[in-house]
Amino acid sequence: MSGLTDITATKDALLKRFDTLENKSDILKAAELKQLFIAIKDQPVGERAAYGQAVNQVKVELEAKVQSIADKDIVLDAIDVTAPWDVNTGPVSLLSTEHGTIHPLMREIAVLSEIFERMGFAIEGSREIDDQQHMFETLNFPKGHPARDDYDTFMTVETDKDGEQLVAPAHTSTMQNRMLKKYKQNLEGGEPIAVVVPDRVFRNEDLDARHEHTFYQVEGIYVAKDVHAGMLIATLQEFLQAYYGKELDVRVNPFYFPFTEPSFEFALSCPFCDKKGCNVCSFEGWIELIGCGMIHPNVLKAADIDPNEYTGFAFGCGIDRLVMMKYGIEDVRHFESAKLDFLRQF
Ligand code: PHE
Repeated sequence: MSGLTDITATKDALLKRFDTLENKSDILKAAELKQLFIAIKDQPVGERAAYGQAVNQVKVELEAKVQSIADKDIVLDAIDVTAPWDVNTGPVSLLSTEHGTIHPLMREIAVLSEIFERMGFAIEGSREIDDQQHMFETLNFPKGHPARDDYDTFMTVETDKDGEQLVAPAHTSTMQNRMLKKYKQNLEGGEPIAVVVPDRVFRNEDLDARHEHTFYQVEGIYVAKDVHAGMLIATLQEFLQAYYGKELDVRVNPFYFPFTEPSFEFALSCPFCDKKGCNVCSFEGWIELIGCGMIHPNVLKAADIDPNEYTGFAFGCGIDRLVMMKYGIEDVRHFESAKLDFLRQF
């Protein structure tokens, strides 16, 4: 039985070496293992079978160890670093986990941006803190202008260089002056300024089914030679029909904004009550969706664009309402609520 004792000693030595090896499968190529196999034929006939089986057993055990390391490597490679991790048990099975989905508003912003892109508009972002210069002055709201009250929003304690408090922008029109300046060179090259800015805005609102303190707008700006209000209405109609994929009942009423002249309000018939009146449309039958108009000469001048040479239109569309009407969502507060039973429907 001395042969079997050798096997045990060799196996122990190989297992020890296994722990130190960098490439674990090298253990299967060890000279000692080969030696054990060669020694089979030297065993007395009566012991040869048992010896052979024992040697094979060593090889099988070593192969299993190599395989278990390889399996572990595969598992490590398959770990999704964005998947949940249990501090006690490690990665939570990928099969049993739930993956998040894109928020419906973010998805719809991508959809409407693509429509505007196809219509030739560049896409830009806004900001979540701005100054009163962009919120009011460049938009033709001088200090003390009563229309400032329509844009009551949140303010920071910090002030800008003129000592004015910074604001959470109450509309995406805060970007008009920046966009006019940024794309002004288009005009010199005979091209229009055509930009949309979909982004988040804030207002100090009394919350109800139609009003949130945090919501989204898409601003549109188009400036060139001989731009007129018919082009504004056609652009909005084209956009809305592409977004909803159907002909729409729209209403254009005169309105007032300090930064457009003339100004209009674009409304769609309420899809919840078919113009009969319900609490979504405040019993009016229509949902106002878009404020718009021809850019006021003072707004063009604030960006050093000559209003005698160029004219333009601008619009600001509430994205939340646009999406509510697309999917029949009855309460705007769902969007910011983080309610999973709402979000999972998208
Ligand atoms: N900024 C306006 C609002 O939020 C909408 C608007 C944008 C009106 C552009 C005219 C032109 O009420």
